[in-house]
Amino acid sequence: MEIVILPDASEVGRVAASVVADVVEREPEAVIGFATGSSPLAIYAELARRADAGELDFSRVRGFALDEYVGLDYGHPESYHAVIDRTVTKPLGMDPALVAVPDGMASDITAACAAYEAAIDAAGGIDVQLLGIGANGHIGFNEPTSSLASRTRIKTLTPKTRADNARFFDSPEQVPTHCVTQGLGTILRARRLVLVAQGAGKADAVAAAVEGPVSASCPASVLQLHEFATVVVDEAAAARLTNADYYRYVWQNKPGWKHY
Ligand code: F6R
Repeated sequence: MEIVILPDASEVGRVAASVVADVVEREPEAVIGFATGSSPLAIYAELARRADAGELDFSRVRGFALDEYVGLDYGHPESYHAVIDRTVTKPLGMDPALVAVPDGMASDITAACAAYEAAIDAAGGIDVQLLGIGANGHIGFNEPTSSLASRTRIKTLTPKTRADNARFFDSPEQVPTHCVTQGLGTILRARRLVLVAQGAGKADAVAAAVEGPVSASCPASVLQLHEFATVVVDEAAAARLTNADYYRYVWQNKPGWKHY
């Protein structure tokens, strides 16, 4: 894995955005996997800035969101359909018809999950998958003990995840209990992974993901199995990394790093 430690959250957003920008510049019909939550917002803001400046064109880019709550109406502002529309599709100038979000309102969730996997395959797979990480090590909504080979499916959210996400709702009880999420096996099939984390609250999860054993107890540790995974963190989120100096040394000496 490539571990990039940067001074602050805005630098994290800028560097991760540059990875996405490189892909879109090379391939105007690139397929991007989008995460929701707070972590990727700086990436989307930076990409929107570059799109507004005419530096990037997202009009033909295709997108797949990682996850969606089950049973939360898409009209609800915190449904991931609404969040992706508000933070990604509109600001980046994407075609809404080219952006898919898992169907948490389907009457047949199992069939909807299979259809989502098939749609990713039909698009030729995901070129670059953006990821945040939960304080418990989840990626997407693959909670601890998720199968490392899992595909898009329904999951039960842990009390910790529901408590963490209560900030987006009027009361903790309103946070849905279930979600549909791309599986860890789905995520591993993306050609490139970029995980971002900011703040001290993520430091333990980042250390477990990067330096701990590959284990379903920390789902993000599955990134260690991917050939091209980049973890971009600020100093606070890097605080528990044992080999931080080595990662800084590698990044500073990476050919072309000044490009970002
Ligand atoms: C959301 C998702 C989750 C979040 C994670 C971190 O699509 O996939 O894994 O990335 O819960 O959330 P934030 O960024 O809000 O701390």
